[in-house]
Amino acid sequence: MKRAQQHAIWGRRGTFILAATGSAVGLGNIWKFPYITGENGGGAFVLMYLLCICLIGLPVMVAEVMLGRRGRANPVMAMEQVARESGNTRLWSLIGWFGVLAGFLILSYYSVIAGWTLEYVTTAARGGFAGFDGASASAAFSELQGDVSTLVQWQTAFLAMTALIIMFGVTRGLETAVRILMPLLFVLLLVLLGYAIYAGDFASGANFLFSFRISDLSLDGLSLALGHAFFTLSLGMGAIMAYGSYMPHNTSIIKTVATVGLLDTTVALLAGMAIFPIVFATPGVEPEVGPGLMFVSLPIVFGSMPFGAVFGTVFFLLVTLAAWSSTISLLEPAVAYLTERFRFHRVAANLLIVFCAWLLGLTTVFSLNRWQDFQLLPGMTPFDVSLFMTEQVLLPLGALAMAVYVGWFMKRRPLRRELKLDSSQWFSRWFTVLRYVSPVLILVVFVLGIVGKFA
Ligand code: PHE
Ligand code: NA
Repeated sequence: MKRAQQHAIWGRRGTFILAATGSAVGLGNIWKFPYITGENGGGAFVLMYLLCICLIGLPVMVAEVMLGRRGRANPVMAMEQVARESGNTRLWSLIGWFGVLAGFLILSYYSVIAGWTLEYVTTAARGGFAGFDGASASAAFSELQGDVSTLVQWQTAFLAMTALIIMFGVTRGLETAVRILMPLLFVLLLVLLGYAIYAGDFASGANFLFSFRISDLSLDGLSLALGHAFFTLSLGMGAIMAYGSYMPHNTSIIKTVATVGLLDTTVALLAGMAIFPIVFATPGVEPEVGPGLMFVSLPIVFGSMPFGAVFGTVFFLLVTLAAWSSTISLLEPAVAYLTERFRFHRVAANLLIVFCAWLLGLTTVFSLNRWQDFQLLPGMTPFDVSLFMTEQVLLPLGALAMAVYVGWFMKRRPLRRELKLDSSQWFSRWFTVLRYVSPVLILVVFVLGIVGKFA
């Protein structure tokens, strides 16, 4: 069959783990997790986030990988294929469609933030962080936010990097990036953690992250924690489904997913533990500063630690690369769809999508400066709307649809076959949670989040 010819399967078993980790670990862990934790009060938010990962994120991730591997195609066609096999309506392929849309939206703002990290690479390399304190680090960050041409320049550079790599073949580039650079990022985070213990206020940082009062739990925080759980695991939009479609049959899905989830969570917690001790030791920097948290706190560290220019350059470079292995997976579903369904050339599909994401990304750039007061929805700039639409609407709905489909509509036999390497005990635990727990929790949190936002 044509589809089988076109759709490659990764030769090595480990490739899926590497690619999925590359997709999962990114700005979500190092930039976003710390700042939303800071904005939402710390420990209570972290607890809700961890619960969302275990009860919702990981079970849905198993379902999404399984759907991809069963369907062996891009998310839209994989869902068509699986639905046909189980005798369900083709409408389930809307899951793939929403995913392509969500991935595209995320790509548009993600590349702007990745652009900030590129700017910080060059600043670090010039030794530009030397002597930074709370005030100067904040001033440097605000200056960047106001500088449209620099923002656009780096956004463009980052998107060009992404497009280039996809053209030259994802697998090899990805493998090297993840096999060598991810461990290096991990080591550098440990170095930063060590420095934070030595020079920062580690007790306050750890206390902020890991202790809470019941009264700190909030609905808005819960909805953000859930959205972030999907975002950080790259769930609900087909990225992991697309990677699952390349996964060989002789791999256990549950074990693989557990590994990726553990790595992703560890990186996020490490980033938080490196950042907050510095925040608490620095006058003028508060946990709730928002998206600038990492870009304000870490330069202070690099400005004062020995060999800070070297560490700073390498660190921001690694963060850029982590972001880049994530954007590849944001692009993959859409590119695979255009090539497999409409026979687009890979390069053409790529350039088309990247160009549109670049255009849309300009609305994020302007939200930081000229359009700061422009409200696309009540109280939200276009950037806020993109964030809200993806993590609080599209990803939860995509994940909900996947959980409901696999839990209630897919035929049991193909399902069991995909998970045959996992013990029947694990299978039934997973299946029970996916059927009864995850969908209800997603639905409740989703509705409360929307009500909380607009009521
Ligand atoms: N998981 C990535 C991160 O944490 C972001 C991402 C979301 C990538 C969705 C792909 C799909 O940075
Ligand atoms: Na992540």
